[in-house]
Amino acid sequence: MERTCLAVILAAGDSTRMKSSMSKVLHPVAGRPLIAHVMEAIARTDIHAAALVVGRDAEAVTKAARRDGMRLNAYVQQERKGTGHAVLAAREAIEAGYDDILVAYGDVPLITDAPLRAARAGLAAGNDIVVIGFHTANPTGYGRLLVKDGELLAIREEKDATDAERAVTWCNSGLMAINGAKALDLLSRITNDNAKGEYYLTDLVEIARAQGGRVTAVDAPEAELSGCNNRAELAVIETLWQQRRRHALMLSGVTMIAPETVFLAYDTVIGQDAVIEPNVVFGPGAVIEGGAVIHAFSHVEGARVSAGASVGPFARLRPGADLAAGAKVGNFVEVKNAAIGVGAKVSHLTYIGDATVGADSNIGAGTVTCNYDGINKHHTSIGEGSFIGSNSSLVAPVSIGAGAYVASGSVITSDVPADALALGRARQEIKPERARAIRERALALKAAKQAKP
Ligand code: UD1
Ligand code: MG
Repeated sequence: MERTCLAVILAAGDSTRMKSSMSKVLHPVAGRPLIAHVMEAIARTDIHAAALVVGRDAEAVTKAARRDGMRLNAYVQQERKGTGHAVLAAREAIEAGYDDILVAYGDVPLITDAPLRAARAGLAAGNDIVVIGFHTANPTGYGRLLVKDGELLAIREEKDATDAERAVTWCNSGLMAINGAKALDLLSRITNDNAKGEYYLTDLVEIARAQGGRVTAVDAPEAELSGCNNRAELAVIETLWQQRRRHALMLSGVTMIAPETVFLAYDTVIGQDAVIEPNVVFGPGAVIEGGAVIHAFSHVEGARVSAGASVGPFARLRPGADLAAGAKVGNFVEVKNAAIGVGAKVSHLTYIGDATVGADSNIGAGTVTCNYDGINKHHTSIGEGSFIGSNSSLVAPVSIGAGAYVASGSVITSDVPADALALGRARQEIKPERARAIRERALALKAAKQAKP
């Protein structure tokens, strides 16, 4: 029979060390809140229900934690009395009866399902408590796993530890699996007799042992278990997350010339044989198909770049930008909510917003779709195979027919039929010798001024 599992995720802490106006679990890593990362790993662990313990910013934290297809109930921990007390805020959920209780902390966002599964396997093997630990050269701040003769005796919090205990480098990740049948009994035995006066979940190790229970620890990589208590740790976690995801993308066939300068969002999708040049930043919602090239210093968010398309250098794709196969968006071009057709070129210094650009069109340097009248946004439609001369303003709503030409420097305010030429600029005049006359007059004026005493 499959074992049932309740995940209890703790996210009620005051986030004091974060020094923030919002709960730390709402701070983003790779563009989404810490808590959402934790929930993704939880979701991959085949749990049956989740109990989220919230305090500060309860509503926003619950919203950020929700995932499609996951049964999740939020429980408010009224007062912050420590991690042991926090788990008991979800008493009602635990009482419903599960084989496994899996506790995770909302501030450990790099976890994957592998150690969570290993911890559950430890329960299935007959343990009452399975702690997930990690080895680190920088154990400061973490609870230390105290082991003797291969047995886990206790977890000692930094503030309660002796110097000798502080020298231990095997640490508590905050992830723990508990025998569901014994969980409430064990949890109710936790006291607050320690340096912080808090109910420590970590005391369960000693409590379970005193009750004759079996306790063990499993090991997981440090890179997955770093906790986030302050902004410096938040930056470290971001770095670790980015390294991990870049590595996975490169192994899947993406070329990155200077991977350490590329920043990905949690949901960035990049296909095989795409090339990402240095200093490219992805915001959420970017999909880069195979064989596309994102040149240096580009910013891409909420955008799709199809196979063989090229972007940048120094381009900005904003939400709704959709480049078809072989399209080109060049330097200092911004595209927002606009479809650029197959093989179309927008090569330089252009803004294309709320628009469609037909296949094989050429948009000259300095073209601007004037999409905003100060109150409403309007659409510009540019037909296939058209040519927009440099430095033109297309005042939306407006439509340029297929195969039309717009003369350079035009301000286009009414629709241009297919295959027509539109000129929306003053006619050029030539005044022979006029420049010489102006220059001579100016020189004479200057000479007259200098002659005055
Ligand atoms: C905790 C562990 C420590 C471990 C470390 C791993 C305890 C006593 N200590 O320390 O052994 O090495 O995590 O990162 O458990 N929370 C509540 N309610 C509370 C207190 C905390 O919901 O009353 C939540 C916090 O929002 C956070 C999590 O529990 O998500 C952990 O709390 P935190 O204060 O960060 O514990 P650490 O000091 O990091
Ligand atoms: Mg913490």
